[in-house]
Amino acid sequence: MKIWRPYTQAALDPPPIAIDRGEGALLYTRDGRKLIDGISSWWVNIHGHGHPLIAEAIGEQARKLEQVIFAGFTHEPAEQLTHGLKKILPGELSHIFFSDDGSTAVEVALKMALQFWRNSGQPQRTRFVALDRAYHGDTAGAMSVSDDSPFTTAFDTMRFPVMRGHSADCFRCPVGKVRETCNIECLDRLRIVFERHHREIAAIIVEPLIQGAAGMIIHPVEFLRRLRTMATGFGIPLIADEVFTGFGRTGAMFACELAAVVPDMMCLSKGLTGGFLPMGATVCTEEIHKAFDVPDRSRTFFHGHSYTGNPLGCAAANASLRVFETEPVFERIRAIEAIHRERLSKLSGHPSVATTRFLGDLGVLELKAPDAGYLSGIRERLYSFFIDRGVLLRPLGNVIYVLPPYVIAPEQLHYIYDVLTAAVEMV
Ligand SMILES: Cc1ncc(COP(=O)(O)O)c(C=O)c1O
Repeated sequence: MKIWRPYTQAALDPPPIAIDRGEGALLYTRDGRKLIDGISSWWVNIHGHGHPLIAEAIGEQARKLEQVIFAGFTHEPAEQLTHGLKKILPGELSHIFFSDDGSTAVEVALKMALQFWRNSGQPQRTRFVALDRAYHGDTAGAMSVSDDSPFTTAFDTMRFPVMRGHSADCFRCPVGKVRETCNIECLDRLRIVFERHHREIAAIIVEPLIQGAAGMIIHPVEFLRRLRTMATGFGIPLIADEVFTGFGRTGAMFACELAAVVPDMMCLSKGLTGGFLPMGATVCTEEIHKAFDVPDRSRTFFHGHSYTGNPLGCAAANASLRVFETEPVFERIRAIEAIHRERLSKLSGHPSVATTRFLGDLGVLELKAPDAGYLSGIRERLYSFFIDRGVLLRPLGNVIYVLPPYVIAPEQLHYIYDVLTAAVEMV
């Protein structure tokens, strides 16, 4: 039996690198090398690898209770996590539904929105709206609301049709404006969709402020703010997919905070457990939950997973929230952002560089490439170039991004940028 790896073309890609252990921003390979993890191991690790507080919390919980069925039963770690998240989540988000990962957190939000309308006597509200360039995961519903891409081509027959608004991609403005003088006209198409179809729309789903997998597109805060106002005006629930942006990535705990926006539903995963264990969560308002909370079995939310609310995942998430309380996490993110600003500004005029951008923990450099996009041929060369120099960066085609664990030392981040600068020279 052989292992089949995610997003990997075994016939082309190099063999996997065996990792024996991780500490802070470092991964230690079996053959004695060190790699700086410049992408938080697929955007999940936030406080560094092997953080002792989280490791101990998982161990302690495993000795007490590793798992129990979550229908009809509860446990302290889940209760504590619910309380802890309530304290940090924006606005009136009052109920939480646990699942397994980012995709399931999105599936739950979509199904919750559909059944909310059915339970509320409006079963015709079945359509979803999403943005161009969106990515929300790989399961059928999440793939449907994601935009067409190499991730979806083979599975088009599994996807339901979705209506779309423009992405606020200022570098390639979809309506030909420039940010300095625009009035967020990229929202106009969405307004038309809302005007024509609001009676059929179940919800709109967006990645707030950063569209990650599409190439780390950073939206103006104003876009999200106005989108919220528009959705509210048409009575359309807003699902904020904070799977990538949540838990500090943007410099605030949640991207919605930066736009002072409260969604009707929010999807969480990745950083939720500090990057230690797979877990997803979908939170919603009292208004949404109320439509399910009636003495009628047919209105039950018939969704669940074997490991829903797993105590180990909850214990890891509780410990991760404790790290936010006890360590200067946001100071660290500000220091990382300052280095992104300094180093990217030096690279932005380079003839090989199309553009640079940054927000919080995320620094982005887009290379000029004739085949720009996820399948750009430049990616393979870059990936190996970085690995050979002890840095784990996994470009999205011609888009190189740096998203380190918050504990990365300044000299480690500068080293990543030294290697990145050499890569820019190389291309
Ligand atoms: C915004 C967003 N939503 C959902 C997902 C899917 O998460 P997972 O890979 O854990 O299923 C991702 C993954 O990158 C994501 O970036």
